[in-house]
Amino acid sequence: MQEEIKRLEKEAQEAIGSAKDTGALEAIRVKYFGKKGVLTALLRSMGALPTGERPKVGQMVNETSQRLEGLLENRLAIFQKAEKQQRLAEEAIDITIPAREMRLGRLHPLTLVYQTTRDIFLGMGFEVREGPEVEWEKYNFEMLNIPENHPSRDMQDTFYITDKILLRTHTSPVQVRTMLAQKPPIRMICPGRVYRVDEVDATHSPMFHQIEGLVVDKGITMGDLKGVLDVFAKALFGPATRTRFRASYFPFTEPSAEMDVSCSVCGGEGCRVCKGTGFIEIMGAGMVHTSVLQGCGIDPRVYSGFAFGMGLDRMANMKYGIADIRLLYENDIRFLEQF
Ligand code: PHE
Repeated sequence: MQEEIKRLEKEAQEAIGSAKDTGALEAIRVKYFGKKGVLTALLRSMGALPTGERPKVGQMVNETSQRLEGLLENRLAIFQKAEKQQRLAEEAIDITIPAREMRLGRLHPLTLVYQTTRDIFLGMGFEVREGPEVEWEKYNFEMLNIPENHPSRDMQDTFYITDKILLRTHTSPVQVRTMLAQKPPIRMICPGRVYRVDEVDATHSPMFHQIEGLVVDKGITMGDLKGVLDVFAKALFGPATRTRFRASYFPFTEPSAEMDVSCSVCGGEGCRVCKGTGFIEIMGAGMVHTSVLQGCGIDPRVYSGFAFGMGLDRMANMKYGIADIRLLYENDIRFLEQF
């Protein structure tokens, strides 16, 4: 019996020594220590031994088992470590490969001039206000002092939804809404889409974009209007830009003016773009009419204000040298990629 145990130990040691992986070790463990294992069977068969020999043989089997289990565990630890190493090596990600380039879109030229314009006015303390594109006739015309017989009210010029509701023809109604909702001081710009009945051509579109602005406070003068708009023009078109104000007419401002900026193509010399005049008209402006202030519940004996309005599409065309307004709406990638 003792001989047999020694032989088994030697055999198991060799098997463990030549096992190649954790799977082989597991098979050895089952062979010797499993339910039907060799050593297990040996322990069971001890009943057949003479009583005197049992403790000695029992101790021998136990010691042999402990040695073999220790050996198995050591080998197992070595294999597990190696297998883990191999898995890590196989699953390693090569982070040195350059990432695939993502195709990013670009901002539309209208968005670009809008953001620049907005930021210039935000820098001067203005807020951005928005209003509905489908507007009451009252806010679009009546409260802006636009008389019943004014041509802009005509069916020929305006998209009516009912006789009281229409697609706004300018963003000035947002100024009315602001004055009704808020007491001075007011400093706001109102960007947005506006609609007029127009045939599509190189310079016209039935939908285009405006930014208008309004300042109302105590002691606001025409000097403030000129100062603010001059700062704006230089910030947008460059510091060498000169501005020029010409008398004009709007029902909701008095006095009213058009502002021209020196042509950025020829610098004021006169060229094809400015039709030889050296200047290009970019916006309407004026001191808010007293009856508009009054209609909005602002006392014109205490407060005064100025307003202005410009077409964004026109400004984008000027800033980027775009000859045809239709390009802004056609979504042609070859055009849009250039900004
Ligand atoms: N609302 C005018 C337009 O659409 C522009 C403007 C605004 C003129 C404010 C003067 C003052 O043409």
